[in-house]
Amino acid sequence: PLPTAILVRGSILHFLADPGAADDSSAWQYFEDGGLLVEDGLVLACGPWGSVLDGVPQHISDAARYFDYRGQLIVPGFVDTHTHYPQLRVMGSWGRKLLDWLEDYTFPAETALADEALAQRTASFFVERLLAHGTTTASVFATVHAHSVDAFFSAAARRNLRMLCGKVMMDRNCPPALRDTPASALDDGMALIERWHGQGRLGYSVTPRFAPTSSPEQLAVAGELWHSRPGLHLQSHLSENPQELAWVAELFPGRRDYLDVYEHYGLLGPRAIYGHGIHLSASERTRLAASGTAIAFCPGSNLFLGSGFCPQGELSASGVRLGLATDVGGCASLSMLQSMASAYEVSQAAGQVLSPWRAWYLATLGGAQALGLDAQIGSFQRGREADFVVLDPAATPELTWRLEGVEALGERLFALMMMGDERCVRATHILGERAFCRSEPQAVPAV
Ligand code: GUN
Ligand code: ZN
Repeated sequence: PLPTAILVRGSILHFLADPGAADDSSAWQYFEDGGLLVEDGLVLACGPWGSVLDGVPQHISDAARYFDYRGQLIVPGFVDTHTHYPQLRVMGSWGRKLLDWLEDYTFPAETALADEALAQRTASFFVERLLAHGTTTASVFATVHAHSVDAFFSAAARRNLRMLCGKVMMDRNCPPALRDTPASALDDGMALIERWHGQGRLGYSVTPRFAPTSSPEQLAVAGELWHSRPGLHLQSHLSENPQELAWVAELFPGRRDYLDVYEHYGLLGPRAIYGHGIHLSASERTRLAASGTAIAFCPGSNLFLGSGFCPQGELSASGVRLGLATDVGGCASLSMLQSMASAYEVSQAAGQVLSPWRAWYLATLGGAQALGLDAQIGSFQRGREADFVVLDPAATPELTWRLEGVEALGERLFALMMMGDERCVRATHILGERAFCRSEPQAVPAV
């Protein structure tokens, strides 16, 4: 048989649980001189280098391929719990807040993906750029076009990635060219689920854009689709911007608050995740927590669109599961390191505590848990899929200068997340194999 074992050496950090507000140090493991043994794409062992090496049967270590990343920090691949691939062309668009930003920039960019070839080109580019940023799993909005989901899943499958994606459902309050209907959303959704859900590492996420762009009939269809097969995911947006809140109250006068709209149509529960959740009442937080529904904290987007400062500490204290997300193109970067920095800045503005431990947890295991994928990814526990990112803490002169002589791991992690970006991503591995290496030239792929 072909040698399938991979041995990796470097400084290794991963989380076993949420460190919580108290930074519980039993929640993570750190091996300064660590080893990771991967067989058939899965983690077989993770620990101090010497003990991992001692535990490897001779026939495996003889055949293993070796990656020496000493001096680098190895963490599980980043999990971006909410992002929009068609919005790559919208990043960094000036002068609008959410509702006008959607009208003026986002809907036109999504309309352009009616062109299937453009959808394919965009999806391949997006997937390559995720890898360059160390993001190995994401929960991704496509467009209203069914082929935009095919394009994304095809690109993700070519790279063997664990990814979630869904066709955006919207049948009102948007340009006619971007409208589906309850019936077409049901037909397209069923076909896409059949075609993609559970194929390799791919999972389907039922994706009503947000309450204002779906009729009550379509929200009912979203519930029907989500419950049509076990293990399906659901994603949407919730409580991002004050004008949006007022509009939802107008459109759904019978519902007691924004969350109740989704609740009413059976759209809360485990494997459901909503972007933002900035302006929520105590009651809404309690109901999110009780139902096991997660919030994707999108701090870069909150800042860029001026939507408000998500009180992430308050959400967590209420028992709401949180993931971290870029929300590209609401945010002008694909970098989860930069999202961690924004998370800290938003927390400062909102009077919330965010420790480096919790930020790194949210970007890895926390995201996997929020998406209901923690049995597969998010840590280096035995049997998990070996997706990981290799980070260079000396990638920039400022980082090198800042970290000189700094031993404390918490301080190193914090400076790395505040000052780091794509330049820190030395390599990204998928199922143990190196899928991205920074020394290779970067370009827009030809598809
Ligand atoms: N709410 C509804 N659609 C969107 C979107 O595409 N981006 C963001 N940030 N919020 C939304
Ligand atoms: Zn979004």
